[in-house]
Amino acid sequence: MKILVTGGLGFIGSHTVVELQNEGFEVVIIDNLSNSSEEVLKGIAAITGKTPVFEKLDLREKASVQDFFKRHSDVSGVIHFAASKAVGESVGNPLLYYENNINTLVYLLQELQQKPDAHFIFSSSCTVYGQAEVMPIAETTPVQTAMSPYGNTKQIGEEIIADVTKVSSINAILLRYFNPIGSHPSAEIGELPMGVPQNLVPFITQTGMGLRAVLSVYGNDYPTVDGTCVRDYIHVVDLAKAHVIALQRLVNKKNSDKLETFNLGTGTGSSVLEVIQAFEKVSGQKLPYTIVPRREGDVTSAYANTDKANTILDWKTQSTLEEAIASAWKWEQKVRNSR
Ligand code: WQD
Repeated sequence: MKILVTGGLGFIGSHTVVELQNEGFEVVIIDNLSNSSEEVLKGIAAITGKTPVFEKLDLREKASVQDFFKRHSDVSGVIHFAASKAVGESVGNPLLYYENNINTLVYLLQELQQKPDAHFIFSSSCTVYGQAEVMPIAETTPVQTAMSPYGNTKQIGEEIIADVTKVSSINAILLRYFNPIGSHPSAEIGELPMGVPQNLVPFITQTGMGLRAVLSVYGNDYPTVDGTCVRDYIHVVDLAKAHVIALQRLVNKKNSDKLETFNLGTGTGSSVLEVIQAFEKVSGQKLPYTIVPRREGDVTSAYANTDKANTILDWKTQSTLEEAIASAWKWEQKVRNSR
């Protein structure tokens, strides 16, 4: 069965391609390389022994998307990762986000709805919950007014998919990620942030390698265990495996509705200081950090209620926070030592 993975050379996309190939799926990747590199193909092949078909293509070009589906008419499912995802950038450049995250979704769905039976897995985010009142966060938690254009594109995307599944042959699953971290244990693929990392863990590992002088901890005056924000850090391989399980659910017609939603997390919250302590433990070195004022748009706490994914998908995270951070550290050391 041929599956299209958009953004398949990206961080979560590449790890999902590996797991799809491990399960025997034929994978074709579309990526515009705006936040990834063709080198990732070698990493995937080094792990699975199979190089996926790759087409450099910008999903904002409707004609290119139509042409792709004419040439790959046997694509029966799509896992859609390709999107811009920097919260801060989206505030300053909303139209880049609405064009890149919404138009592309519409073009993909226009192609899929022409098929007699199509499966669609959507990369969504816990950001749709904003600052949820109750922890842990369940799928029934109300979606809040988005705190950024990026978060709004995820909410709008979910609504578009809901409308389309009602009137088409498409069956879809929305996967709301918490905080993906780590790298494949082989260290053949991992997170490759372009420029200064916005996310905590790649900033920590780059600081550990001396690429950054010090980690700025955005606030320690939150109402949490130690005053720093709490998040649910999920190993990217655990996350990737959930995508394959979700796809197989649709392929095998086990889904109970045409549209289903799952939160993907560990179910455990970790503070920024706890992540730093975990890094210091696995690396054996102190991490230089300084407390600075809060970052605009950060929520105090977000971690998942994983009951639904655990029971219905029969999926559970396997890696601990320390194992995930150790894999990120191993990858960082390999990438830096190979440059
Ligand atoms: C985590 C915590 C920061 C960097 C975002 C998106 C989410 C998803 C994951 C795309 C926060 C603190 C961070 C730093 C710090 N992205 N921090 N110093 O903001 O929870 O989630 O990325 O799907 O949709 O919203 O992740 O890693 O940026 O921050 O203190 O240099 O680490 O304040 O508390 P976030 P993050």
